[in-house]
Amino acid sequence: FLYILGALLGAYLLGSIPTALWVGRSFYHLDIREHGSGNSGATNTFRVLGKKAGSFVMAVDVLKGWLATSLAAWLVSQQAIAPGQLLYFQLACGVLAVLGHIYPVFAQFRGGKGVATILGVMLAIAPATVGICILVFITMLLLTRYVSLSSMTAGVAFAVLQLLPGFRPDNQLLLWFGFVLAALLIYTHRANIGRLRAGTESRVPMPWDKK
Ligand code: G3P
Repeated sequence: FLYILGALLGAYLLGSIPTALWVGRSFYHLDIREHGSGNSGATNTFRVLGKKAGSFVMAVDVLKGWLATSLAAWLVSQQAIAPGQLLYFQLACGVLAVLGHIYPVFAQFRGGKGVATILGVMLAIAPATVGICILVFITMLLLTRYVSLSSMTAGVAFAVLQLLPGFRPDNQLLLWFGFVLAALLIYTHRANIGRLRAGTESRVPMPWDKK
């Protein structure tokens, strides 16, 4: 039981690591939440601090989700849970890491929007479906230049893809999980949705845009 409690707590604490905030504070002496979109996430780090910091934050935030999900496999290896329960604990650890990222205990519960951490969790659980979602994300980004819209579309694509033969998960729970994550993403992007509707959402410039 202690192992299970440790893994669940560990998943939340891992997710809670406010990568964007700490990178901004430590190396650039600024609070990322006071710049750009005000979001403590990889996109805003790219926007405010550049490619190097942005890629680092992205990688760590994806890794947080992936590592948290891997804690479930560790529980199996410690015989704390049965192999048949693996998926349930992967999902539980994954959700806790994502909630940690959005509501981090280390940053006054003001975190990011969950995109990179959800990516890490789902890469560990359903890599093929995630692969298609990444293509959806890139296509949307090239078409619209909005990261927020592309993230939400990729999240919804994940849920919908699972309804198709070939992508249908063995466990129905994963299907529901996909829709819950899509809803969560839409919720965390509510300010972006407001800006998209008002036409004030920032766009990612593409190198070939220049005249
Ligand atoms: O990763 C979050 C992204 O979808 C939106 O971020 O900074 O544009 O609000 P931002």
